[in-house]
Amino acid sequence: MKILQGKRALVTGVANRWSIATGIARKLHEHGASVALAYQGERVKGEVEKLAADLGGAPVVECDVSNDTSLAAARDALDARFGKLDALVHSIAYANKEDLAGKVFDTSRGGFSLALDVSSYSLIALVNALRHSFNDGASIMAMTYLGATQIVPNYNLMGIAKAALESTVRYLAFDLGDRGIRVNAISAGPIKTASARQVGGFSRILDVVPKVAPLHRNVTSDDIGNVAVFLASDLASAVTADVHFVDSGYHAMGLFVTSD
Ligand SMILES: NC(=O)c1ccc[n+]([C@@H]2O[C@H](COP(=O)([O-])OP(=O)(O)OC[C@H]3O[C@@H](n4cnc5c(N)ncnc54)[C@H](O)[C@@H]3O)[C@@H](O)[C@H]2O)c1
Repeated sequence: MKILQGKRALVTGVANRWSIATGIARKLHEHGASVALAYQGERVKGEVEKLAADLGGAPVVECDVSNDTSLAAARDALDARFGKLDALVHSIAYANKEDLAGKVFDTSRGGFSLALDVSSYSLIALVNALRHSFNDGASIMAMTYLGATQIVPNYNLMGIAKAALESTVRYLAFDLGDRGIRVNAISAGPIKTASARQVGGFSRILDVVPKVAPLHRNVTSDDIGNVAVFLASDLASAVTADVHFVDSGYHAMGLFVTSD
């Protein structure tokens, strides 16, 4: 029997085939889960519907996480068409491009609110909207990055938003623990996606990992998806309130010595 047989998962943040959410959805499906996909707007709807067809005709719902009406409508549509959830994948982030380069002290009040609303508060908003839609024992996971706790030049405001997201993961894990619901973060190494390309000098970040990380390679969304499968499964039934690095071990390095 497949490890996720009989489980239903909602995967948010699917925009195109390069999205980390797409890799995760594929892996969840491959391991037996029924998957529903949430996307942000009309612009990506056609592409997401095509991806859904590859996942056994996964239901597709529109959901703008910065809009409570949209969140409630997505929840109602899922309740009616999909059923109770055993897993939720939060794979959503946004910041204005000018806040992903330059000096953090130039960040505007509006830019800060926008980034924290979409990238951090959205996990609280999603969990609140779906609180009665989760089965006990469900698994919630959110995507984060090393820049939450370490200085990564140019990651700037998104690092601040990820720090809030990681803290949110811990507090939600405490809130939901009495229902056996687990909440974790996956800290992914750099992967070339539409969002990642907004970060100043992103290609240099991609170049550095194979040179210095213990595994000497960049990660793929399949690598992230494999860990998402584990976290969604009953094998992770006592794993909660933590950040799990899937970055070829890069985060553990204290000093970089390259051969050139
Ligand atoms: N790519 C990387 O290197 C990397 C590394 C670590 C963590 N992450 C995180 O992974 C997650 C997915 O990013 P990605 O790299 O796959 O890029 P992506 O651009 O494919 O995904 C970002 C998603 O956020 C969605 N989104 C933005 N605003 C939204 C809103 N208001 N409502 C609903 N959805 C909204 C977009 O539609 C898109 O689907 C993000 O949280 C990102 O910070 C990415």
